[in-house]
Amino acid sequence: MHSKNVLIADSSPSFIDSIGQIMVEEGYQIVKAYSGIDVLGIVKQQPCHCVFLDLMIPKVDGARVCRYIKEDQRSSHIPIVILSGTIAENITHLDDIGADFYIAKGPMASMRKDILTVLRQLEGGVTISDTKAPVLGIDALFPRAVTKDFLQYQRHYEAMFTTMGEGVIEVDADFTIVRINPAGAMIFETPERKLVGCSIDALFSGHREVREILGRLLRAKDYGSEKVTLRYNDKVLRIVITNLIESGYTEGLLFIVQDVTDLFQKIEELTKINRELNKTQAQLFQAAKLTALGELAANITHEINTPLTSVLGYVSLLLNSMDDNDPRKSDLTIIQGEALRARNIIKGLLNFLYPGDLHLHAIDLKELLKETLLLVSHRAKSQKVAIVERYGGASPPVVVDAFQMKQVFINLINNAFDAMPEGGTLSITTISEGAYLSICFQDTGVGIASESISEIFDPFFTTKPKSKGTGLGLPLSLKIVKGFGGVIEVESEEGKGSTFTVKIPQGERKENFSE
Ligand SMILES: Nc1ncnc2c1ncn2[C@@H]1O[C@H](COP(=O)(O)OP(=O)(O)OP(=O)(O)O)[C@@H](O)[C@H]1O
Ligand SMILES: [Mg+2]
Repeated sequence: MHSKNVLIADSSPSFIDSIGQIMVEEGYQIVKAYSGIDVLGIVKQQPCHCVFLDLMIPKVDGARVCRYIKEDQRSSHIPIVILSGTIAENITHLDDIGADFYIAKGPMASMRKDILTVLRQLEGGVTISDTKAPVLGIDALFPRAVTKDFLQYQRHYEAMFTTMGEGVIEVDADFTIVRINPAGAMIFETPERKLVGCSIDALFSGHREVREILGRLLRAKDYGSEKVTLRYNDKVLRIVITNLIESGYTEGLLFIVQDVTDLFQKIEELTKINRELNKTQAQLFQAAKLTALGELAANITHEINTPLTSVLGYVSLLLNSMDDNDPRKSDLTIIQGEALRARNIIKGLLNFLYPGDLHLHAIDLKELLKETLLLVSHRAKSQKVAIVERYGGASPPVVVDAFQMKQVFINLINNAFDAMPEGGTLSITTISEGAYLSICFQDTGVGIASESISEIFDPFFTTKPKSKGTGLGLPLSLKIVKGFGGVIEVESEEGKGSTFTVKIPQGERKENFSE
């Protein structure tokens, strides 16, 4: 007596029982399978003496099951007997199937004889190489034209599915992969036979959105389709998931997967270029605004400066001619103070419009920063602002006008102090990076509202009380830095602080960048 497992796979339980009976009588144990997925699972889990396999079984058809078993080293030794009703119509494709024996389904007596013949041969160690795979029981069968046509259609669609450029994956209602085409296997870099029978979660474990879509589509009573784009390793995949509805229920789902990595990279590049373009456009707009304002202001400044000088002169004459206890003296002092403030604004404007002759020299910016910090150290102490200096390594000299550069530093430092009325920290860092030397002024102050960031370089934009700010510090600083071929960048978060970064080209330059 034998005690060996024979796996019988057929969609019909009664057929399995009838031929199983023949084998039980011979002393074999029967293991039943009703779909291709069942067969693939069973051969992985338990030893099998041989497999009797129908070609037309659900989920994974018999021909593919046979191929996967033979391709896998762990199962390739298991003899496969195709027991099929369509063998007569498949006779020219037996080589593609690659089984060890073929038996045509026919009258029970004939099948019994053929099954026993095969089992005996297997006991004797005979396999395909010895038998040349004859089809047992074929003599009594004739090919059927309709079945043949049908199988031809199936092969046609099979060829389309195999050669499609998009990856196609079919899963059943339990999310088990039942089919995947070569393009799909290539996208997921895993052989087809390893994926069939696995849960789709094995591919999309890190993507909750896919699980959610599957849940929705599975519950849907109607045909539905959803799209998702996701990153898979270093790829970007565009996936369309559709439910396969049969008799009002979702029997499975179809994934059409497109590798859109190239397209995505192009979009990212274009977005970056667009961002740069917008930035350049904003800078051009700013420059145009400054030019227009500059012309207007230059005329007004001259017109106002002359009468202001007279007002100040006469006020000072009157003040000098008055008694110390004259009641009008305090009013006149107010007039003098206001006129002086107006003249300071005019002076700032003139500075901004005509910063004076440039004296360009190669200088060490760290030394210049240290000199500047000496000037503001008193204010830092009284306002409880800690100054942290971080000078990053040796950096080549930069070509600037030292006086104007100092003015820029003072403007930025004063702004930082104004932003920290309750004290804080001002970190000054220099970094030599590529073509530029960057000097960052980072404060822990009030920060700048996001809607104001685009305005802070506009002349006269100020959030400070009238007596304190004219709104010319930053536009003047930007103009000076641009004159040296540099830029000023700003990052700020309201309530947390701001960082102003001055970037100056490094090394010796011959050309004069002044506007
Ligand atoms: N470090 C900073 N933190 C917070 N806000 C800032 C900072 N630097 C500049 N600002 C904002 O930008 C505005 C414009 O600054 P800008 O230096 O041009 O003018 P101002 O400081 O107001 O006046 P001025 O410098 O002419 O005395 C400021 O009023 C302030 O609102
Ligand atoms: Mg300022």
